[in-house]
Amino acid sequence: MLVESDATAVTQVPQTQPALALPPRPRRPLSSWQLFRTFPDNAVAACDEELFEELLVERRFFWGRLFVVSDPDAIHRILVENVDNYIRIPPVRRAFTFTSGSGMNHLEGEEWWRHRRTINPALDYRALLPDLPELIRLSEDMAAHLAALPPGQEFPIGRTLTHLLTRTTGRVFAGEDRRIDTLLLRLGRFPENYSMLDVLPLPRSLYFIDRYRRARAGLGEYYALLDELFAERRSATYAGGKDLLWRMATARDRETGRELGAAELRDEVLTLAAGAQAPLRAMTWGWYLLAQFPAAEERLHAELDAVLGARSPTPEDFPRLVYLRRFIDETMRLYPPLPVMLRTAVADDKTCGRHIPKGSFIAIMPWVVHRHRKLWRDPERFDPDRFAPDRIAARSRYAYIPFGVGPRVCVAASLAMAEIQIAIAVLAQRLRFHLVPGQTIEPTAWSTLRPRHDIQMTVEPRRPDAVAAGC
Ligand code: HEM
Repeated sequence: MLVESDATAVTQVPQTQPALALPPRPRRPLSSWQLFRTFPDNAVAACDEELFEELLVERRFFWGRLFVVSDPDAIHRILVENVDNYIRIPPVRRAFTFTSGSGMNHLEGEEWWRHRRTINPALDYRALLPDLPELIRLSEDMAAHLAALPPGQEFPIGRTLTHLLTRTTGRVFAGEDRRIDTLLLRLGRFPENYSMLDVLPLPRSLYFIDRYRRARAGLGEYYALLDELFAERRSATYAGGKDLLWRMATARDRETGRELGAAELRDEVLTLAAGAQAPLRAMTWGWYLLAQFPAAEERLHAELDAVLGARSPTPEDFPRLVYLRRFIDETMRLYPPLPVMLRTAVADDKTCGRHIPKGSFIAIMPWVVHRHRKLWRDPERFDPDRFAPDRIAARSRYAYIPFGVGPRVCVAASLAMAEIQIAIAVLAQRLRFHLVPGQTIEPTAWSTLRPRHDIQMTVEPRRPDAVAAGC
């Protein structure tokens, strides 16, 4: 079952391409012991050849049964049709148990539904629209900063863009109020890397082994700040903007009419803040790919010049920047910011003719699904035109899942996409990025997919007129 059909696979990319950065790929499945060593260091380096060939792979380890699921029908079954049967694995839920254990990454069942129903509208694209001009301005500030670097000055792209993302997230969360920025910076590093202990099913008696207890305890210093920010927004005299915290503080569940309580709000902000750096991964890999593929860079520049010329983008421009969107989609296909989703089956189930016993582990891995040989034609090849409308229509919706799918789809997908589009459009309009030669770039997956070492780049101004005018 090749989901990308031959008939629609008109490829315009050159036949030879630079080799893309890849982790080691074992030829054969790893033993339990090898998995123990490899997974905590780099989860995607534990993915062996068979996973990219077979759509549903069952493995037995001493700690239980694992199904690695890439079949679009099985993904639909697990993440959509029978979603309540497949909960996040308890160790990951424990890692995200903030103040009272009432954040989306921890909750399951009716409580989780209630939180999602209440929070979804606060992160809806329409709710974010008023923030976009300021996000564009912040990217222009970053472009000006980079344009002012001495020629040839090397800089780490990830660390540099962290500043941009912290400012944009801070703006979306709390408007002009900068008190939240240190919290965002701190949570941007949570939960760092998982260890095997974080994914193994521990008996309850061993729950005291919780590597994140200390990291979470350190967040206590922010509780008072969060309570204050929410209290301000709930007070009758509040005269500030309708930022994300205001929208969350005033949101009501459309079914029950309930507001979120103080501890629930605190937990949800911490949960959102812990996910807020994910767009940084897409941006970093995006600049890596643009620097590697001059033809794609040229096409993007041509589109930006045709649609925007030297002026700043507005939110209305983004639907017309179609190549930009294809490029971002292809970047997240090859380098999905969240490469692994883990679940456990609450009760026996059946999918694609296979019995899934209660207690089994399920791994749905965008890293594998997006490079699967039965789902994609020439999967290791960089080709943004895979995301042309006819080619999207010719394959399963479940073959491309950077934001997940179903009710637990990323709650902030609209925000993430807007941040990535704005940053790449504004910076590419003004600057050309180059990779510093001689680097070894290895995709490394802990909770997110990042280069093992930050990628060193240089920039040169592209349109001196735009830099002068816009910044
Ligand atoms: C390119 C950027 C992003 C990608 C690729 C991404 C991807 C994902 C994926 C795949 C899931 C589902 C995980 C699962 O089902 O196990 C998810 C959930 C989630 N994401 Fe994102 N995410 C991104 C950005 C963000 C941002 C910016 C935030 C917060 C501001 C965020 C907050 C969350 C939260 C809270 C959940 C849990 C939702 C729930 O369980 O109901 N994400 N994300």
